[in-house]
Amino acid sequence: MFQANFYWWDGGAGGFGGYLSPFYSPLIFINPFVEGAAPMDHAWFGAWPNWWPALIPASPAILILAGPLSFRMTCYYYRKFYYRAYFMAPPACAVRGIPQKKYKGETMLFLFQNLHRYTLYVALGFVVILSYDAILGFFRNGQLGIGVGSVILLINPILLAGYIFGCHAFRHLSGGKLDCFSCPSGKPKIRYKLWKGVSWLNREHMFWAWASMIWVAFADIYVRMVAVGTWTDYNTWGY
Ligand code: FES
Repeated sequence: MFQANFYWWDGGAGGFGGYLSPFYSPLIFINPFVEGAAPMDHAWFGAWPNWWPALIPASPAILILAGPLSFRMTCYYYRKFYYRAYFMAPPACAVRGIPQKKYKGETMLFLFQNLHRYTLYVALGFVVILSYDAILGFFRNGQLGIGVGSVILLINPILLAGYIFGCHAFRHLSGGKLDCFSCPSGKPKIRYKLWKGVSWLNREHMFWAWASMIWVAFADIYVRMVAVGTWTDYNTWGY
């Protein structure tokens, strides 16, 4: 997040296409004067603003990470994981020696976890944006091709979609709040099918959570390593 450079690689081809690290996408502003920065036409709002404090790196990742982070931190699965592993509140079923006298549940400050149902919409937006980035990865200067990085950046939104579309909040949204799928209100059949699909993903939500998180970090490392010239990207463009 604090590294403001080497998040983009196109082998110097220019034009349409290139590898963009998912940690930096979408590019709200771009500082074109750093090494490994994306071309300016990828910036949603243009050049990096002058008022940005000099002490904070001009990294596009800083501007967007609150979105995915707030979604993951409030995810039902991760909550179970860090409540158990870090707070011991509540501990897992077979764990002896409960540190608290009385378990209070998610009250007080923990009410902010309800944010999850809203951060879901942000996360859905990220699936669209990162899918577009995956398409970018199959082009160099407008020329269609494929590289190891293209495949890595393609797997990223697929795993992310598996995680987000299996979200408990999305399951509720798709049909969880209906009492009756065969009742006349709404479009029960479509919603039932959607809900069944979401439920199927939801069953392995932990797997999707970890797989997508590890992969997004790996995709970021891959783009960085290729951009700094440490790793070679084997591709059909010959850059
Ligand atoms: S519950 Fe895990 S992503 Fe929503």
